[in-house]
Amino acid sequence: MQIQSNVYVGIKPSSLEQNIFYREVENNENSNVNVTNTALLESCDYVLLAVTNDRYREQVLQQLQAYIDRSDPFERFLISEPQLQDIMISPFGGNSNDSNENSPSHIGLLSSWVDLENEDILQREMSYQVLLNECKLAQSIGINKLILAPPHDINNLKIYSQMISRVLNHDIFEKNGTNMILSVSLPMYEDSDPLATWDLWNNIRKLCGYHPSLMVSLALPRVKTPHYILDRWLTEPVSSLLLSSSIFATNQYNYPVLHKFNQNLLMKFQEINGNSQLKSNSLVIILHGMEKYKDFIKGGESAYLEYINFLLKRNDKLTLQNSKHYLNKFQLNQPQLMSPLKPHSENLTNSIYSIFETDLVKYEKYGEAIKQAMLEIIKRRQTRNSNNSTPINILVAGAGRGPLVSQVYNVSQSLNVISRVQIIALEKNPQAFLYLQKRNFEHWNNNVQLIHDDMSRWKSNDKIDLCISELLGSLGCNELSPECLWNIEQNHSKPDTIFIPQSYTSSIAPITAPLVYQKLTQESKNFGSNEQQRLFQEPWIMHGIPFQILSNRVNEIWTFEHPNKIHLSSKTMTIHDLFNRNVTTEFKVKHRGEIHGIAGFFSAHLYGDTYMSIVPDGISMNKIDIEGNDERTKNLFSWSPLVFPLKEPLLINDDTEVSIMCSRQMDGKKVWYEWSVESYVYLVLSKQIDTRSGGKLKDDTTMLQNTRLDNDPDSTHNNNSNSNNKHGTTNSSDNKHNNNNINNNNNSTTQPYEFESAIDENGFMPTYEDGWQSVQNMYEELGQVPKIDEPGINLQPEEEEEEEVDINVRVKTGVSQLHNVNGQYFSVEFLKE
Ligand SMILES: C[S@@+](CC[C@H](N)C(=O)[O-])C[C@H]1O[C@@H](n2cnc3c(N)ncnc32)[C@H](O)[C@@H]1O
Repeated sequence: MQIQSNVYVGIKPSSLEQNIFYREVENNENSNVNVTNTALLESCDYVLLAVTNDRYREQVLQQLQAYIDRSDPFERFLISEPQLQDIMISPFGGNSNDSNENSPSHIGLLSSWVDLENEDILQREMSYQVLLNECKLAQSIGINKLILAPPHDINNLKIYSQMISRVLNHDIFEKNGTNMILSVSLPMYEDSDPLATWDLWNNIRKLCGYHPSLMVSLALPRVKTPHYILDRWLTEPVSSLLLSSSIFATNQYNYPVLHKFNQNLLMKFQEINGNSQLKSNSLVIILHGMEKYKDFIKGGESAYLEYINFLLKRNDKLTLQNSKHYLNKFQLNQPQLMSPLKPHSENLTNSIYSIFETDLVKYEKYGEAIKQAMLEIIKRRQTRNSNNSTPINILVAGAGRGPLVSQVYNVSQSLNVISRVQIIALEKNPQAFLYLQKRNFEHWNNNVQLIHDDMSRWKSNDKIDLCISELLGSLGCNELSPECLWNIEQNHSKPDTIFIPQSYTSSIAPITAPLVYQKLTQESKNFGSNEQQRLFQEPWIMHGIPFQILSNRVNEIWTFEHPNKIHLSSKTMTIHDLFNRNVTTEFKVKHRGEIHGIAGFFSAHLYGDTYMSIVPDGISMNKIDIEGNDERTKNLFSWSPLVFPLKEPLLINDDTEVSIMCSRQMDGKKVWYEWSVESYVYLVLSKQIDTRSGGKLKDDTTMLQNTRLDNDPDSTHNNNSNSNNKHGTTNSSDNKHNNNNINNNNNSTTQPYEFESAIDENGFMPTYEDGWQSVQNMYEELGQVPKIDEPGINLQPEEEEEEEVDINVRVKTGVSQLHNVNGQYFSVEFLKE
């Protein structure tokens, strides 16, 4: 039964019940599948059935043998397609046109006896053909969800993936408009190495080129899934959750129930609502093995199904209630990648204004800040005993259709100062301006002075006491608030003018978001070869797209304040110093993963104790200058996170340090962002020093110590020439050889596996020194010897007399390209040419 979210329920009948159908077909009884009782079928949406039966297997094996015994060496090997007696799913019921619309659809279980990664080429070819035949059959009878057995031999993953790739590249999956899904069944996690099954999946899907039809079906464990594993899977294209009856407990009435942690897990998947998938957008919960315990629990087999249906309905209700806008919740969360708005250079449409105007929380927050600021202005005037007849000038800069003007108007009325304020509404969008005129007439008694102009060029003699604007993008500064407000700061403000917001801070973190990568890759296919990488060079807004922050922190990168503390009066200061930022910031990542991009968030200090933030909850921030803003503002829905995508995903190991360079560039006419990512692991090399040969290194015993060696792992280095904010004080040069907290454990076998892989990825590390030496030599030949710093490795022993020393090495394991250089793919226009 479909519920409001895209989550459905399915069952896998026992093999006995599946065989009943087989026998009926064999006896040519053209009846629909007689699986299990009708009550069960009526309360589920899907039935999982094997596509072919044992008879087909026998036929195939006979054909294989016949081929092996053939006389003509050039004979083509072709496995015949299954006949009616070979199939387990009725081609006449369930999915066909003449079926009852209330009867459940089918999910096909592909043969698990095939051996896709068999060493023998012929066996492999047979397996491939069987799978392809089953997929073709499924498609012809209207089944679009297929589940595949996991690899038998994980050492042969490449071959397994190659075979899947061949199937996926067939027309049935490739043709435009096809909605066929192939999912690999895997356990959600294994105790010994919780990310091992994710590794498997990641390997397979990478080898298959992130094919949009390739998904995963996950078997829920009996025990609690660690939260980082669950969070990881929530971002992946999970097409079904497999629930064995063995993971159920019984309640006091002997009914089957799930443990609390698995109830929560279902709830989380329901909230994601199938949004992590590019193609299908639906998730099926498949119950199996119910026949095993049916005699021991109350309610028999159908009790499992009733319970899951109950849980899903209850979760739906809770999810909806948790949002104020519950009616739209699921619809609002349809996953979309959207280009960030450019309200300064492009006029917003009426429909966009109307969506934003329903964000009650935003206007409540602004209302609070406006009230506090006005009280402050009134208090100042009282203490100064200044002339009460001078009006309080309040400017709403970028008034849109007027909701912030209404806030000012209402607050002024409630404070009983409406007669003492002069409200100015400044807006450049002609459409929005018409609304302002209408509202002025209908609601504000024509008391608001309306100005149709661009605030960055606005000229007037007015000096403003309070300037209110909302020019904030998901990263804070990406809608050009700093540039737009500069003219007002310089020409229309007094020393004590209050700005709302007072400041806004941008924060970033490395994320995994397979859907972002898949969507951009798919979209890129519509562009010519020159344009193919364009989509990966632009920031995007991730609306309803599941992502996981891989680092343990979100790092603040820069803050803009109003009024800007820097004044152009200083001769050396340029407009670039005011608006440009360049930051390198480091993150610690505990669990391995694939980085698909950099998520961007903002938090804003409106005024007094009023803040707004879209930084996700439950992750700490390195606070630079704003206190009290580290909680995501509940039900603030105008902003979704921004993502700077990576052209190529960056695979990182456990305990990796990720270094992100992000810059904001303003050249006087336009603003753009550039970004790149690097990854490092820390190694401790144990070296024996042969003192007789002048300290030469002798032994290469090594071990991995993938821990950051200084005390402040998540640091931010501001590479700006100006000292506009506090980031500039961080010292970036101490990363390479910082020897604090050295773990002197010399056991070289501690983590040999990780060490090997780190060396592998780096590839050239043992010859590092020689390589740099040869560069020097080359220049010596020319008589010009440059001074070359050997990057990231210090092979000098610390104390010469020691026989054995630990040398800490920061080894680079990955690097992305620098994206959007010179804003050649994406920029926001500030001044028209
Ligand atoms: C995000 S909307 C906010 C609108 C309204 N204040 C609200 O909160 O609903 C930003 C508004 O600022 C206007 N805007 C942006 N840049 C501007 C500029 N340079 N001069 C005047 N208006 C501008 C846009 O047209 C848009 O109406």
